Amino acid sequence: RGSELESVYQNALSDGFGLVASNIAEPNVLIGLMEGASRAESDLLLQASAGACRFAGNGDAEAGLNALGAYIDALAEGFDIGVFLNMDHQTDTEFIEFQMDEEIPSSVMIDASSESFEENVKISREVVRMATEKDADVLIEAELGQIKGAEDDLEVDNAFYTDPEQAVEFVDRTGCDLLAISVGTQHGVAKGKDLELRPDLAGEIRQTLRDHGLDTPLVLHGSSGVQPDQLRTMLRHGICKVNKDTRYQYEYTRTAMEYYERHRNSIVPPDADRDGRDTFFNETAWTPNKDHFDPRVGGRQIRERIAEVHAQLAAVSGSAGRS
Ligand code: G3H
Ligand code: ZN
Repeated sequence: RGSELESVYQNALSDGFGLVASNIAEPNVLIGLMEGASRAESDLLLQASAGACRFAGNGDAEAGLNALGAYIDALAEGFDIGVFLNMDHQTDTEFIEFQMDEEIPSSVMIDASSESFEENVKISREVVRMATEKDADVLIEAELGQIKGAEDDLEVDNAFYTDPEQAVEFVDRTGCDLLAISVGTQHGVAKGKDLELRPDLAGEIRQTLRDHGLDTPLVLHGSSGVQPDQLRTMLRHGICKVNKDTRYQYEYTRTAMEYYERHRNSIVPPDADRDGRDTFFNETAWTPNKDHFDPRVGGRQIRERIAEVHAQLAAVSGSAGRS
């Protein structure tokens, strides 16, 4: 799994495009993403946080990961594109070990960026070593610098930018395959607050790494809200993975709210007003019209909207037409 994804990143580095890494919240988002990527003829990189796994497993992250992995594999059979899974913002090394043993993800992000530099190096290096010892076909992403905002269990108040020289030392000492950098993006909805976006810094980090013989693909977190021209600059500077979560959550909520707002009265029996509450709660008196109210119809609209949005994002990141 990881070796196939690695060759996608090699193409991304040489051709200057990025793979959108899309967080999955629930099945309609997942199916929408597959449809959108297939429409754009782009490979698809899905991401699951520990929280998403717990959600899928009704509180049990391991069960949830197994369920998600099986569901993704089964659905991917029907699509003619490469489908990969990244484990996003992982902090629990025992859970990472489980992921490797189950051979489910193509890549794992260890996020120890809130620790001191030395501790971050130590934890990230341990995860790389674990993958090597297990001979796991999995890429390891690690993060240097801090990205402001909330993501799953992590909350960061004071962001700081990645230092290019420190990035060299970090990659060198950890042996990570991908490096997440902080260049002023922000997780969640509060974009651009008190932070300056610095696409130039991505270029500096890339160049400094190259000067030391390191060709590490760079990762941009907190990418929802980054404008297409800003993103294109980042892509020219070695960003190969563009993480998106908030944008899909926004589209999901907006589409669901519009659908349910339109249909919120459609299961109310016509005589409810006349006969009062007793009639309202007497189901035999209902005249529901499935065409007017069916959660699956709302769900399909969400899928379609996610598909549209994802196909556009794949086009902007340049991965469209490169499955
Ligand atoms: O790891 C996930 C992404 O960094 C999410 O970024 O909140 O801007 O969508 P976003
Ligand atoms: Zn992130």
